[in-house]
Amino acid sequence: VTAPFQRHGGNLRQVAARWGVPEDLLDFSVNTHPFGPPRAALAAARRALARASEYPDPDAADLAEAVALAHGLSSRSVLPGNGATELIDLLPRALGVRKALVVAPTYGEYGEAVRRAGGAVQVVWRERLDRFPVAAVEDAIERGRCDLVILCSPNNPTGDRIDDGAFHRVLAACETVGARLLLDEAFVDYDEGGSRVGLVARRPLLMVLRGFTKFYALAGLRAGYLAAAPEVVRLLKDARPPWSVNRVAEAAALACLGLPGYAARERGRMAGLRQDFSASLGGLGLTVAPSAANFLLCHLPEAAPGADRLYEGLAREGFLVRHCGSFGLGDRYLRLRVHLPEANAALLPVLARHLTPRPAPHPRARAAGEADATMRP
Ligand SMILES: Cc1ncc(COP(=O)(O)O)c(C=O)c1O
Repeated sequence: VTAPFQRHGGNLRQVAARWGVPEDLLDFSVNTHPFGPPRAALAAARRALARASEYPDPDAADLAEAVALAHGLSSRSVLPGNGATELIDLLPRALGVRKALVVAPTYGEYGEAVRRAGGAVQVVWRERLDRFPVAAVEDAIERGRCDLVILCSPNNPTGDRIDDGAFHRVLAACETVGARLLLDEAFVDYDEGGSRVGLVARRPLLMVLRGFTKFYALAGLRAGYLAAAPEVVRLLKDARPPWSVNRVAEAAALACLGLPGYAARERGRMAGLRQDFSASLGGLGLTVAPSAANFLLCHLPEAAPGADRLYEGLAREGFLVRHCGSFGLGDRYLRLRVHLPEANAALLPVLARHLTPRPAPHPRARAAGEADATMRP
């Protein structure tokens, strides 16, 4: 595996081995909450560990009920999973998806899962990275004969929320042709605009995916859920082995749901950090896409070296960033997690040094018009 084209962030071990650096890199490539999990979640996990010899509930019913209660849904509409990833993998297989539509650039596992299940993937590329191409998506739904449309809001790696107007146009287009709509809300807890999970009760073709990995920083435990019509939940349940959610993960996730004030406080804390980090990155000449999540998509300034070189140079100095090659974004973009204030402050001067062009000009001539192509992929 060539490290710049990492499929996911956070694989410190692989990166350290590749570049011969210690594994304690400061990780800007993974989008978990930088302040770590809520203490109550860790305490609940420790208590659950004392019962490690007992099987967990095969359906994680307590978690399903708590999620249902929190969002005004029936518990038959909630399927807990081993992280959102298990559910992304399961869904096309269980529903027999023949053709899915994704809006690129976005999280790579959607397309992978559809292909693994034997389906085809139609891709609509954004014309501008900071704009959701609603008309093109509607058009593709009307003509494309897809049985599944997959959206991500806030979207990885662009960070933007799909606004209500665009979302409802896509949902209406799906309903017109009878396609299901999967909305991945892995980062929605950061988004002031809020979740659409409650809509599942009234819109049977809508399925909403959420998790505890990012906002609650429980990536290592693996807990997420799908909210969908009861018959969809039933189909997915029947297509997978029991006990996907272990007892420790279920306990920690349940504890996260019962923390009054936590979400608003952490969302606010992240908004402040994001604003400061984004302004500082802009000061270095990067073009930073507006983000409703805890990461920033950055376009490199004209004179800076490419993402391959930056990625390697920063890794050698102990900073892991997300190269965007696997998103199909080539060599002029990095995605940076909004980290702890001290980590952000540590990265900035090192990044500034690496952005400074070397004395000898790069031999490759730039195409005319490329300079103003910042948010055009
Ligand atoms: C948009 C999106 N959805 C889902 C996931 C997977 O989350 P989980 O850890 O819950 O499997 C990720 C992880 O990077 C993601 O970026």
